[in-house]
Amino acid sequence: MTTQEMQIAFEQAYGRKAEKMFFSPGRVNLIGEHTDYNGGCVFPCALSFGAWLLIAKNEEGVLRFHSLNMPQTYTIPISEIKPQADRAWCNYALGCIDIISRRHPEAKLESGYDLLYYGNVPAGAGLSSSAAMEVVTARAFTEEMAVSDRGGYPCGYTDEKAYRTELALIGQACEHEYAGVMCGVMDQFASAQGKKDHAIYLNCDTLEFEHVPVKLDGIKVVISNTHSPHHLDSGAYNDRVRQCHTAVEQISKVKPIKFLAELTPEDWEKVEGAITDPIAKKRARHVVGEVARTAEAVEALKKGDIKRFGELMTASHVSLRNDYEVTGKELDSLAEAAWQVEGVLGSRMTGGGFGGCTVSLVKDEAIDEFKRFVGAEYEKKTGIKADFYVAEIGDGVARLI
Ligand code: GLA
Repeated sequence: MTTQEMQIAFEQAYGRKAEKMFFSPGRVNLIGEHTDYNGGCVFPCALSFGAWLLIAKNEEGVLRFHSLNMPQTYTIPISEIKPQADRAWCNYALGCIDIISRRHPEAKLESGYDLLYYGNVPAGAGLSSSAAMEVVTARAFTEEMAVSDRGGYPCGYTDEKAYRTELALIGQACEHEYAGVMCGVMDQFASAQGKKDHAIYLNCDTLEFEHVPVKLDGIKVVISNTHSPHHLDSGAYNDRVRQCHTAVEQISKVKPIKFLAELTPEDWEKVEGAITDPIAKKRARHVVGEVARTAEAVEALKKGDIKRFGELMTASHVSLRNDYEVTGKELDSLAEAAWQVEGVLGSRMTGGGFGGCTVSLVKDEAIDEFKRFVGAEYEKKTGIKADFYVAEIGDGVARLI
């Protein structure tokens, strides 16, 4: 769908033109999985697909929500912004508006708005369609509710990076409070701070980050969709968060730490005996290993050692399968088939897991065979047809009109 078609759809829904239009991307994480809420590093990139939002003020003091992807529409008075029942999709937007006003006392929603969303991130694919929706809403409504009268960015920010980080934090808080998923900040951060042809090496404790060029001569980043929806809010994700807290508590009896990511593999040898809960021990072992792998992978990429980068991706999947137990039959079938294809440098699940997508580095000349072989093996094992996309690494959130 083109942006012009979205503008026409807005006019059809509301009988007048949109005043502004915004876009925010989904993401794929190259390595650093389930490390963000453990104070570790991640290495995601923004994609060229994401969520669009068109808005216009109305005189009726209500927020009207339309989506070109969802049949439900909602009308919520601006005086009654709170979570809606039945996992209403407008919660991802309402939460951001609510959180903007709580984090920024000067931010006021002084009028009603008509909103139209459109997204082209495959739904339930673990490519952060919800983060894209949150960040696009945070971008639009920080501007509407708290335009800085001193120039600069909304909410008084003078620095673009700091403003974009704030958009990510608004989105993350919305996910916690309005969707009940106690996620880390990676998805919203990638959506807010993405940069074309770069990945983001983010320290999720300090929120310091670096854009690292993804220069892969003759190699593509290929995303494979299991078409087995991930169920992040099913509780399994929040269970992992709790299990990691248990590990921190038990380790802290011998070595006080705030986050598992503070431990090096050498520290691990010394402290693992303090974890009495066997599940918490496996989870923690993954996190400590993954943090080290992520640092090594970023160094390898900077040196142009894509072979090593690929090996670390594959090791990441194995750890997520054996120790973190977030892969499952579908993701394992895709990754294990990919490892058998000549010209694949590495392949792993990406995102929260439990379904969703894998990410693979594939040599240009091997892409056709990759799709054929992996697609056939996957269908044989699961009865489901996979989909493949060559990722285009895009920019972060932006106002388009
Ligand atoms: C989901 C969460 C992220 C992160 C990943 C796993 O995508 O939203 O914060 O924890 O899972 O790395």
